[in-house]
Amino acid sequence: MCGIVGYVGKKNSSDIVLDGLKTLEYRGYDSWGIAVNDNGKLDVFKKVGEINIKKVPLPKTSSAIGHTRWATHGGVNEINAHPHFSTRRDFVLAQNGIVENYQDLKGKLIMKGYTFDTETDTEVIVRLIEEKRKSNETLKDSVRDAFNELEGRNTVIVLDSSKEDHIIAVRNGSPLVLGIGKDGIFLASDALAFAKYTKDVVFLDNYDLVEINGNEFKIYDAKSGIRKEYKVTKLNNKIKGISKGKYSHFMIKEIVEQKDTVLKAAEYSEDDLKAIIEAVRNANRVYITGAGTAGFASGQIAYYLRNIAKVDALDVRSYDFETFLPILTKNDLVIAVSQSGETADTIEILEFAKEKGCKIGCIVNVEGSTIHRMSDYKYLIHAGPEICVASTKVFTSQCVFGYLLAKSMVNEYKEAKSYIQDLSDGLSDYFNEKSFKHIKKLAKKIKDNEHFFILGKGQNSYISLEGALKVKEISYKHFEGFSAGELKHGVIALVEDDTPVFSIISDDKDSKDIISATEEVKARGAFTVGVGDSKFKNESCFKYFLPTASNKELSGLANVVAFQLLSYFLADSLGNSIDKPRNLAKSVTVK
Ligand code: M6R
Repeated sequence: MCGIVGYVGKKNSSDIVLDGLKTLEYRGYDSWGIAVNDNGKLDVFKKVGEINIKKVPLPKTSSAIGHTRWATHGGVNEINAHPHFSTRRDFVLAQNGIVENYQDLKGKLIMKGYTFDTETDTEVIVRLIEEKRKSNETLKDSVRDAFNELEGRNTVIVLDSSKEDHIIAVRNGSPLVLGIGKDGIFLASDALAFAKYTKDVVFLDNYDLVEINGNEFKIYDAKSGIRKEYKVTKLNNKIKGISKGKYSHFMIKEIVEQKDTVLKAAEYSEDDLKAIIEAVRNANRVYITGAGTAGFASGQIAYYLRNIAKVDALDVRSYDFETFLPILTKNDLVIAVSQSGETADTIEILEFAKEKGCKIGCIVNVEGSTIHRMSDYKYLIHAGPEICVASTKVFTSQCVFGYLLAKSMVNEYKEAKSYIQDLSDGLSDYFNEKSFKHIKKLAKKIKDNEHFFILGKGQNSYISLEGALKVKEISYKHFEGFSAGELKHGVIALVEDDTPVFSIISDDKDSKDIISATEEVKARGAFTVGVGDSKFKNESCFKYFLPTASNKELSGLANVVAFQLLSYFLADSLGNSIDKPRNLAKSVTVK
C-alpha cells in the first residue's frame, strides 16, 4: 500500500529514487511522483499509471523523495498523487497509511483559514505541519508535533527546501527502513529499493523519527522527542536487484521458482525447530492467522498440525480474529503467516494477543518486517522477493514450513524432508512445455465463461480456496472454491450446462467423495475438470484432466500449482495486467 523512497547523497537523487520506486511499484501503482531540492527550490514531477520512463525531467540534485500510490482517499489523478506541496512550497510530503481522524483535523484547519487542493488525507498532514511551524523553531519539531496528532497507521517523509539535503521521516505502522551506503543515505518502505547500493540497514520502529542532514542522520522517539540509539543490521547478501530474467512476467518466474523455494523453506534443522515445537506443545491452543493467501496458508498449516501432529490448531482469518479474542488466553500461541510481515489486519491481532500475554510465532518472507520483529518465534521461509502481487511461491513455502513442523513434532522430520524433496523433483519435471500447453489449451477453452467452481476436500480443501483466489486476482473471473461436502447443501443450484467445475483429487481417502461430487455436477451438465493425481485421469466423471506433480502428503501443494498456472495463462490470453492486477496492492498496510 504505497511505497516511499528518500535519498540524500552523491548520486543523482532522482535517478536513485526513480529506480527505488520501480522496485516498490508492487506496493501501489495508481500514480507516482518524485520531488527534488534544487538549490532551495522544490521541483515535483507526478504521473498517473505505472512507471514506464527511464529518467524524470527533473534537475540533477543530491536529495529527493518519491512515492508510488495505492489510492485510499481521492481519485487517481496527478493532483492527488504524492508528494504534496506546502502552501509556501517550502516543503513537500509523501505518506503511506490512512489518517483516521483526517476529517476532524481538516475541519479545524479550514476554520483556521487553510485551503486544500486535493481530496487526500495526506494534505491534512501537510497543512497541520504548516500550522505547527507557527509555534516551533524547526521543521523537525513541527513534523513531530503534527505526527503525534494523527490517528491510524501512518508513515511520512518530508523534503525541506530551506536547508540543503534535509529529509525528515516518521514511521508508524507502515514500514520504513534506513540504508547507510558509502554514496548516501536511503529511506524506503522496503530495503529492496536500495539493496543494490547498501546492505547496512536500520529497521525503524513505530514512532521513530529520522532526520537526515547531508551525510548524517539522527533518530528520535517521535513521542518524547528524545534522541534514540539504533541498531545497524546487515541485510542478507543474497538480496540483489530484482529482474524477470528470461520470463515475461514475475508471476511465471515465481511459479517456476517453487521447485527450489519449497526446499529453502525446509532448510531448518531439527534443532532450529525445537523452540517452536516446544511452544506448540505447551500451548493451550495454537491459533494460526493471516489474510488472503496467507490466510489460506494458515488453514493448510493448521490442517497439517491437527492431522499429522494431533495439535489443537485453529486457523482464523486475521481480519475476523476479533471474534475469538473473548476466548483467547495467555496460554495460547498465536502464529502469524504473512509474506510481507506488514499486513495491518494481522499486526493488529498480534498486538491484541501480546497485550493478553500470548507468545507469538511467525512464518514470514520478509526479514526485519514488523511481524518478524514482534514475534517470539521467528521463522523466515527464504523464498526471496516475491514481486507479482498474486502470491504463489510464498504460499507453498509457508505450507511446506508448516508441514515440516507438524512432521517434526511426531519425529518424522527425515520423512518430511524426503517428501519435500519429492515435491521439488516433481515440480521440476512438471514445469515443461507439455504441461504448459495442456493448461493453455484449457485456458483458451474456458476463457469466455464467467463462473467457475473448485471442489476440494481434506488436504485439498484450502487448496480449492487458494486456487480460486489466484485465478480471480489475475483473470477477474468469478471462481469460487469450496469443500466438496458443501456442494449438495446449496452450491449445486448454480451449476448449469457447461459450467466449468474443477475437482481437486489426490490419491487419498477423500478421492471417492470427490468422484461422487463430480458425478453429481456432471449429471447437471457441468464441464468437469479433474486436477491432481494422474492415476485418476481416466475416471469417467472428468471431461478434462490436468495432471499435477501430485505427491502423497504434499499433494495439495502440487495441485495448487496447476491453478497458479491456469491463472497465469488465462490472464495472459485475456490480455490482463499480470504482475499488477487492477485494484490490488501487494502489501496491505492499511485497514
Ligand atoms: O503480506 P501478506 O502475506 O500478509 O499479505 C496477505 C494478503 O494481502 C495477500 O496474501 C493477498 O491475498 C495476495 N494478493 C494474494 O495473492
